[in-house]
Amino acid sequence: MEEDCAETGNIQRLLEEIGAGLDQYLKFEHLDALHPGYQWREYLDITLPHKGVGIEQVTQELVGQIIPNGSAVTKPGFSSFITTGATSVATLAATAANIAAPQRYGLNAFNFLEELSLQWLASMCRIPHMQGIYSSGGSVANLLALGAARQFAFEKIGHDVAANGIDRQVCVYASEESHHTIQRSAGVLGMGRRAIRTIACDSQGRIRVDELQKAITKDMKSGVLPMAIVANAGTTNTGAIDPLQAIGEIAKENAIWFHVDGAYGLPGILDERISHLYDGLALADSVIVDPHKWLGASVGVAATFVRDRQLLYRAFTQEPADYLEGAMEQEGSSPSVIEHSQDNFGIPYYDFGVELSAPCRGVVVWALIREIGVEGMIRRIRRHRDMASHIAKVAKEHPNLELLNDPTLSICCFRYVAPNIVNLNLFNQRLHRRLIRENENLPSTTQINGKLALRPCFIGARTNQLHADALLEAVLRIGRELANEIV
Ligand SMILES: Cc1ncc(COP(=O)(O)O)c(C=O)c1O
Repeated sequence: MEEDCAETGNIQRLLEEIGAGLDQYLKFEHLDALHPGYQWREYLDITLPHKGVGIEQVTQELVGQIIPNGSAVTKPGFSSFITTGATSVATLAATAANIAAPQRYGLNAFNFLEELSLQWLASMCRIPHMQGIYSSGGSVANLLALGAARQFAFEKIGHDVAANGIDRQVCVYASEESHHTIQRSAGVLGMGRRAIRTIACDSQGRIRVDELQKAITKDMKSGVLPMAIVANAGTTNTGAIDPLQAIGEIAKENAIWFHVDGAYGLPGILDERISHLYDGLALADSVIVDPHKWLGASVGVAATFVRDRQLLYRAFTQEPADYLEGAMEQEGSSPSVIEHSQDNFGIPYYDFGVELSAPCRGVVVWALIREIGVEGMIRRIRRHRDMASHIAKVAKEHPNLELLNDPTLSICCFRYVAPNIVNLNLFNQRLHRRLIRENENLPSTTQINGKLALRPCFIGARTNQLHADALLEAVLRIGRELANEIV
């Protein structure tokens, strides 16, 4: 093979082959990638090839060896961590962006949708007054929000922290149920992970507002700069929603930045039966939501929203670079007629976050919403919440199940119980491993007040009530078998 792959015109045919491989994958008839009989590792594990094999063979290897041995995350019975397989429309949009819009600068249809979809997402999640930026996931989305919080806190005392760095001790209030990316953000932003004040939660996993107030008063007396209060709109463990109104009011009274981590749970606002739990969201200074969690986006799509992106700009702007300045029309410069997509950078997303090169993610969110509309999203959110409620109802009533946490969103924590089981944690751990090995129902586990819980989190677009029923059936069957083994 002498060519250096300049050939074009074969995308349609090759994508058809990949598409056929993916359609087959989505039947989920294959065994798990680590099934002992599978040979793909031996096939793929070769030394650095000096000669290429060409695109036809690469396609065959993708279809024959790689796709069938992909991740279990896409399975409809996968309800483990808060991550999901892309819907078909998300896959199509992401593929289109890969080829037709490898960057999010310039003026083209993809970049138009970057902004439009952020506005759609904000409207759908009832924060239409906010401006957004996409990033790779909840981790970076939280980082950007806390970067804005840091800028805000230091600007209030006349210090440009992005330019000059941290010059005093600061603190961030987050509950013990907050995602650990909050800690990491504090480390990355130079405040140090110890800047996090971990506030206790009530029995439902919601931050204790009295404890929060106490901690703030103590820090203010000691001269530490309070930088942000982080609330959860859907904790990772149980889906708990913090009392946003009360927290927001405390934040306003003390002029502290109010951040809401809705990476998983913000779309829950679409279900009118619980939308009141989001009262107080309007007080937030920053909010994050991950379309690659509950909305079915391909992985790598999260959004941070703030009231005014100029703050993000001041927090994250790059220094000027010779190869960029002057390469496009500047705002207000002449000639001012914009008639080529490369005449202008467009909205400077690269200055609102930590990525310069980044994929166009907006087209994925646009496609998701365009395909099924807000009404379709509402139906999906309600379906998943109903599944969690159904499991809770059965767990409450069944003598061999114990409900450990009443669901708020689409997570239900429960465990198997029987009078002859001495160590319930160990028992449920064994049950969980058996469940996973069966490769149909794949929840995760968590700890609820020291009790090991089975923790299905239903977010998959292809997941429905049948999967909740199948999970219950499998837990009861395996539980019975394991309990019978105990003498
Ligand atoms: C509440 C919450 N915030 C942040 C994150 C981090 O998101 P990501 O894995 O997309 O970086 C998660 C992940 O599950 C989460 O549940």
